[in-house]
Amino acid sequence: MTDQEYLFLKKKVLTMTGIDLESYKTQQMRRRLSAFIENTNEKDVIHYCRIIEQDEPSLKKLCDFITINVTEFCRDAAVFQELENSILPALLEKRDYINIWSAGCSNGAEVYSIAMLLCENRKKVNYRILGTDMDELSLARAAVGGPYRDDLMKNIPKHLVDKYFTQENGDYWAKKEIRDKAVFKRHNLLADKFETGFDLIACRNVTIYFTEEAKEKLNQRFFESLRENGVLFVGATEFMINAAKLGFGKFGSCFYQKKNSASLAKV
Ligand SMILES: C[S@@+](CC[C@H](N)C(=O)[O-])C[C@H]1O[C@@H](n2cnc3c(N)ncnc32)[C@H](O)[C@@H]1O
Repeated sequence: MTDQEYLFLKKKVLTMTGIDLESYKTQQMRRRLSAFIENTNEKDVIHYCRIIEQDEPSLKKLCDFITINVTEFCRDAAVFQELENSILPALLEKRDYINIWSAGCSNGAEVYSIAMLLCENRKKVNYRILGTDMDELSLARAAVGGPYRDDLMKNIPKHLVDKYFTQENGDYWAKKEIRDKAVFKRHNLLADKFETGFDLIACRNVTIYFTEEAKEKLNQRFFESLRENGVLFVGATEFMINAAKLGFGKFGSCFYQKKNSASLAKV
């Protein structure tokens, strides 16, 4: 793909999907998109752009490809154990209500994983989980709680699968108990306004292809959206280089806490 073609594609993608490729690492995105377009057998980028203008499913395929919505329940099981055993108890210690945001929640597996941990917690707190994503199809699945394939469930202990899911034709559906406190809405992390007042924000495996500038801006905005002592939960391979500069302290493997003078006990 030539520089000009990439520029043309970037403009087209922005106007048609609202996704600004400026915030994604150029080399990787360009390489991935070149391979993707080659696979469609279209002659070149210009021809491909004509297709996405006319054909909704092709546009949808492109969006899915750019955003990558692979997920599973309790992704990185050891980290979810840490969330259950250290982070949530610390957050719940002095509170009867917590407000959580799963940003880039895909089909809701992350939202319902956290909901299960809260339902299982000794302290019965009230909570709300907001799940947001750019991908409407994933969100539609999240809102009705399924269907989830068997292979997405492998990290959930059997007794919890039985307790919180029903099974239908080999697929799983989240029960009302974990669906009740979840709210889903479409939201673009690179363009839309953020709510505030969160105790926990999970943004995991979403920013892999974002530029360092976009990531820093996003982390700054997450900081502003968190309450004092609130925690940002990132993916297992996502390290925040400038955490201290932004005002975060590191807590455990994948957790950053918005620091203040009276912070939580270090875990
Ligand atoms: C790989 S999935 C991660 C899902 C879940 N957080 C996890 O770790 O399993 C990445 C999700 O981020 C969403 N996403 C990517 N870019 C986004 C953006 N700019 N705003 C909102 N969601 C975005 C994708 O649609 C996709 O569902």
